[in-house]
Amino acid sequence: MIVGEDGALLAISDLHVAYAENRAIVEGLRPGSPGDWLLVAGDVGDTVEDIEWALGLLSRRFAKVVWVPGNHELWTPPADPVTLRGEARYRHLVDLCRSLGVVTPEDPYPIWRGPGGPALVAPLFLLYDYSWRPEGLDTRDAALAEAYRTGIVCTDEFLLHPDPYPSRQAWCAARVAETARRLDAREPDLPTVLVNHWPLLREPTRILRYPIFAQWCGTEETADWHLRYDATAVVYGHLHIPRTTRHDGVRFEEVSVGYPREWRPRPTPPGKLRRILPAP
Ligand SMILES: [Fe+2]
Ligand SMILES: [Fe+2]
Repeated sequence: MIVGEDGALLAISDLHVAYAENRAIVEGLRPGSPGDWLLVAGDVGDTVEDIEWALGLLSRRFAKVVWVPGNHELWTPPADPVTLRGEARYRHLVDLCRSLGVVTPEDPYPIWRGPGGPALVAPLFLLYDYSWRPEGLDTRDAALAEAYRTGIVCTDEFLLHPDPYPSRQAWCAARVAETARRLDAREPDLPTVLVNHWPLLREPTRILRYPIFAQWCGTEETADWHLRYDATAVVYGHLHIPRTTRHDGVRFEEVSVGYPREWRPRPTPPGKLRRILPAP
């Protein structure tokens, strides 16, 4: 944990608290100082009850918690008594966050004024649009057909409903347009910390074990956002490949915990919060 007088801007994602071992990780997450903020970059859990448990616990410990939805939050799993779908489910989670004091993509972007700041913290919900396709597969239909042929199909196809949008890519297009409008309208004098569950750039997906899976990981539309919106850091998860990379000089932080079967073999213990600001 980071110990500092005035706090730090910290991040984590992909808590997946349906797993008991991951629940224990969340129970162990504590700020290093009273001023710490925590960015939670999606995939907290699958059910509304689990999401409420985790965000409730974290919001009582950290000075501020900022959340963006991952694909798992947007699922409508058969076992969840909350049967809302798509946009209605997202809005329900936004209301839940607001009741906990957690900042969402629908709220004014907060300014981190602690060490390494000031910076505008922008939680984003952008989804994906199947534009990251394998070489030679020019359409979404072709890429999806290849995914089914090879058996690498994201569960989103069955559980992440886009209602009332006709498709997930239509929902993505609406989110990208609205988010760009908000970012364009920001006071341009501060650097930004962009937080999105899915990577803004395709580059980090190049090391996926199954490259065909990239179609569920982001959109070409955000390829220049780290530059266009003056990012000092970009925080994301979803890939379950925690690491730090640089693109065009901008720091990208993949901050996922991932599933127990993924983190167990790693030499470092899971659940270490990543420091975003002050820059390491
Ligand atoms: Fe995840
Ligand atoms: Fe995810």
